[in-house]
Amino acid sequence: MTASELRTKYLEFFKEQGHQIVPSGSLIPENDPTTLFTGSGMQPMIPYLMGEKHPLGGRIADSQKSFRSGDIEEVGDNRHTTFFEMLGNWSLGDYFKKEQIGWMFEFLTKEIGLNPEKIYVTVFRGDESLKIPRDNESVVYWQKLFKSIKVEALAVDNAEIGGMQNGRIFFYPVEKNWWSRAGVPNNMPLGEPGGPDSEMFWDFGAELKIHENSIWRNKPCHVNCDCGRFLEIGNNVFMQYIKTQAGFEILKQQNVDFGGGLERILAATNGNPDIFLTDIFAKAKLEIEKLSGKKYEDNKEAFQIILDHLRAATFLIADGAYPGNKDQGYFVRRLIRRAVRFAHKLEIEKNFCSDIAKIYIKYYQDAYPDLLEKSKNIFEELEKEENKFRKTLEKGLKEFEKTVSSEQGTVINGKAVFDLYATYGFPLELTEELAKENNLEIDKKGFEEELGKHQELSRTASAGKFKGGLADHSEKITQLHTATHLMLAGLRKILGENVHQKGSNITEERIRFDFSHSDKMTEEQKKVVEEYVNLAINSKTDVVMEEMTLSEAREKGAEGAFENKYGERVKVYSIAGFSNEICGGPHVQNTGDIKGVFKIKKEESSSAGVRRIKAVVE
Ligand code: ALA
Repeated sequence: MTASELRTKYLEFFKEQGHQIVPSGSLIPENDPTTLFTGSGMQPMIPYLMGEKHPLGGRIADSQKSFRSGDIEEVGDNRHTTFFEMLGNWSLGDYFKKEQIGWMFEFLTKEIGLNPEKIYVTVFRGDESLKIPRDNESVVYWQKLFKSIKVEALAVDNAEIGGMQNGRIFFYPVEKNWWSRAGVPNNMPLGEPGGPDSEMFWDFGAELKIHENSIWRNKPCHVNCDCGRFLEIGNNVFMQYIKTQAGFEILKQQNVDFGGGLERILAATNGNPDIFLTDIFAKAKLEIEKLSGKKYEDNKEAFQIILDHLRAATFLIADGAYPGNKDQGYFVRRLIRRAVRFAHKLEIEKNFCSDIAKIYIKYYQDAYPDLLEKSKNIFEELEKEENKFRKTLEKGLKEFEKTVSSEQGTVINGKAVFDLYATYGFPLELTEELAKENNLEIDKKGFEEELGKHQELSRTASAGKFKGGLADHSEKITQLHTATHLMLAGLRKILGENVHQKGSNITEERIRFDFSHSDKMTEEQKKVVEEYVNLAINSKTDVVMEEMTLSEAREKGAEGAFENKYGERVKVYSIAGFSNEICGGPHVQNTGDIKGVFKIKKEESSSAGVRRIKAVVE
């Protein structure tokens, strides 16, 4: 079966069960600053699982593009990819366990013809401390279905210790059979939905317990033992709880969130656990064999890394993540550079990334037409990044070898790691990986210190260039910076919550500040804002800085531009009773340190929907 046939069969099947088919969302989540990438089909569905009405009703199915950045270094075996397609179906307060389990069984065994003898399932063991019961209900449904086709389905517990015990249905604890965006119950923040799940595994056969030298060799095999024999092919999450202060409570509605990796189900239908042997990768693999003159069979790790990373980079660039130094861009850069490094190992010495991308774009063009539309961008970005990295790769690798041979201990010093980063464009993780290959570690802390020093230097340099001797005047500027926070808080109080900062430029003499607001301010409004700031100055209130995650800052109602700083730790400066804002600083320690009286000198239009204030403290 091909990936395209499987995708179509899945969506058709769920359409027949009354589901509306929706297109995949972007790999870059919209309006979700808690995460950089869409890593499961469920992420875009959160509001609807919590009770918001989905415009298309209570039954939805899709195939969602997903990217798991945490898996970059796992790639290089037969089953891990960073990018994958997740087949998904949802009940948003509609059907529940019985229907879901029944349909899954029918889909896997009838629609795509998997042998039921080779399917094993897991269910939630129950957890007293969480007051969440054992999922005996799902066991009953699974047993009935297996019985209907005369397959014995014994439910057994403690497979972690006792092995298979002739079972077909296995109970596991929260670490295995619980799903939420944040993972196990302990890691979930308050207000997060989650629930027990029932997973399905495919048995590639005992003879495929291939890791003869691995830690698994003398351990009893069970479906979750990771020895290579069983592969999880789908997860039915019964999303029915929400974490509250008082413990887990039942959600307003009972939901189902099913997710199954398209590539993995395909591997099961092929009867081969290597997902890189599915039709998805066939042409790209052939091209790499042609370019390198080497065979996949003899160079699996390098091929797998290149195949995965360039597919992921192609999709990510199409969704607007360009190679760069931070956020999503940094991951795209890492993917491309890691692919190029392994291509170098295979002795592919000329640019090849866009050739591989071209093959993927063609392969996916029916299911994901936007790839074709964005192909020019994709080629350009890949080409640019590959050019940049190839220029320094060879020299950087030589430099690395020199460092290794001169290094006395087992740790590569931070300065050397930083030089590889700054001069040769080696992402930190790449050097770390090279180090590991040489049984060495890297001094990460030392690297960060070097990076900090470097950033400090370039900041000072640019400040010096543009502002002319910033240091002499920094005290006044710091005062005006704190006054700016007070002014923004005042503006929001008087003009409303729609007011946000749009730009700011502070010199020793004045504040220039742009903010979102459409109308001219009245004299009265300006006066009230001035009074607000002066009251704060006269109150001699301490300015308190706290570091926290972005979502904590948001929970605390801090003002700031949330959309551009995914996942970061941020500083929040608060002035009790007056202001609470995300900011890098610096600020005065007490509002009383602001010397003078705050005055708005001018208020005018800056651009459509944006006003500009000039203000002073004198
Ligand atoms: N959201 C569930 C998962 O990713 C289906 O496993």
